[in-house]
Amino acid sequence: MKQSFKILVLIALLSLTLMSDAHFSKGPELDLNMRPKKDKDKRATSDQYKMSTKNLPAKENPTSMKTHILIFATTRSGSSFLGQLFNHHPDVFYLFEPLFHIERSGTSNHRLYSNVLRRLFDCNLRSLERYIKPRPKNHITNQLFRRESSKAMCSPPVCTFHGHSKLNMNEKYCQKICPSLNLTLASEVCRQRQYVVIKAVRISEINTIRALVEDPKLNMKIIQLVRDPRGILSSRISTFGFNGNLWRTWKKTGQKPKNLEMTTIVKMCDDFFTSVATAQQQPSWLKGKYMLVRYEDLALNPIQWAKKILTNTKISLDSRVFSWLQSTINGGRENVVNRKYGTVRNSTAEAEDWRLKLPYVVAKYTQTLCERTLKQLSYKKVNSEGELKNMSLTLIENRKTFEEISLP
Ligand SMILES: *[C@@H]1O[C@H](CO)[C@@H](O)[C@H](O)[C@H]1NC(C)=O
Ligand SMILES: *[C@@H]1O[C@H](CO)[C@@H](O)[C@H](O)[C@H]1NC(C)=O
Ligand SMILES: *[C@@H]1O[C@H](CO)[C@@H](O)[C@H](O)[C@H]1NC(C)=O
Repeated sequence: MKQSFKILVLIALLSLTLMSDAHFSKGPELDLNMRPKKDKDKRATSDQYKMSTKNLPAKENPTSMKTHILIFATTRSGSSFLGQLFNHHPDVFYLFEPLFHIERSGTSNHRLYSNVLRRLFDCNLRSLERYIKPRPKNHITNQLFRRESSKAMCSPPVCTFHGHSKLNMNEKYCQKICPSLNLTLASEVCRQRQYVVIKAVRISEINTIRALVEDPKLNMKIIQLVRDPRGILSSRISTFGFNGNLWRTWKKTGQKPKNLEMTTIVKMCDDFFTSVATAQQQPSWLKGKYMLVRYEDLALNPIQWAKKILTNTKISLDSRVFSWLQSTINGGRENVVNRKYGTVRNSTAEAEDWRLKLPYVVAKYTQTLCERTLKQLSYKKVNSEGELKNMSLTLIENRKTFEEISLP
């Protein structure tokens, strides 16, 4: 049964892929190259080119040639998995959730988030210093949140390891061997990479980062990662274990305990809805810069979606990304350091796993709260406990949204 379900999903996804083209429409930068230019413009361009190649070291790319990719997600939506996909690419400088420091400093707001992201995309890692506690001295810190998630910050020259095989350099070793981070050096390495990728789960809604997306100094691509809200909820309950007793009471009595707040989930569903609806309208500021990915599609068909995501962000299909992916699919030969953030899991099994864990009453309540979001993202509602637990029925429908958004 499981097998036939997988085949069904595979067929469905294959046809989805065949129908959809590149998810990023052509941006204005392409128009610039194609439009016939006046002589004067031509001269200016070639002069600029000469200047930029003459004054810069061979390896250093000017910011304008870089691509800045934001993984725009929420907790427990598989963003670590997507982040790691980029992280394993040798041309990528990856930052895992730098906004953690801003939020913890208690000064967070949308404008601040955007400003910090702008500086980080510009490889100014020292801009984080004032938010890191204790404050770094001489630009050295051992407190950068989840530094070990970033390969660039766990490899030479940022971290040099003596007497350790590079092959063993997984996250656990990085924590042990690379305790202090030179932010100046890390920024230098960042400047040499063609892609800066930042994962953020603290941005609520896409309109709040419009100024960042429109910044002419950046070449932004937003990958919005969404997931079935019922799956997110289930994953949050089991990962963070919050309000354990209340969920149990709910399951036992069938009544939602009054003091159990569902406002976070409602807000998340509303934010998904607003962001995706905004992108569907294809405003000019998002044209060619936005891609919507459903976690379930990525998890059920990781190789195919990895290719699609890399191709759309114009990153080469490097074999290192795919060998990591393969080992993940095969159940993870790599160590899982911290299961809370671990990305190395059986992603095929993970996608709809939540259905076996989440009580029907909770699923039903949640799908009512998030009705329009489920509809928008093409997740099916369930009408009975039997439907919820019957894994030969998938709740993931093919999505027109993706085609709509991918139109130029
Ligand atoms: C950090 O790296 C920079 C750039 O490579 C270097 O100039 C500086 O001396 C380093 N700081 C320390 C404390 O090692
Ligand atoms: C991963 O999950 C799928 C689907 O449940 C299963 O068929 C496969 O055997 C699992 N792989 C491993 C290595 O556990
Ligand atoms: C599960 O769903 C399949 C497909 O609709 C159906 O044929 C089967 O009878 C269902 N199984 C149960 C136990 O309800």
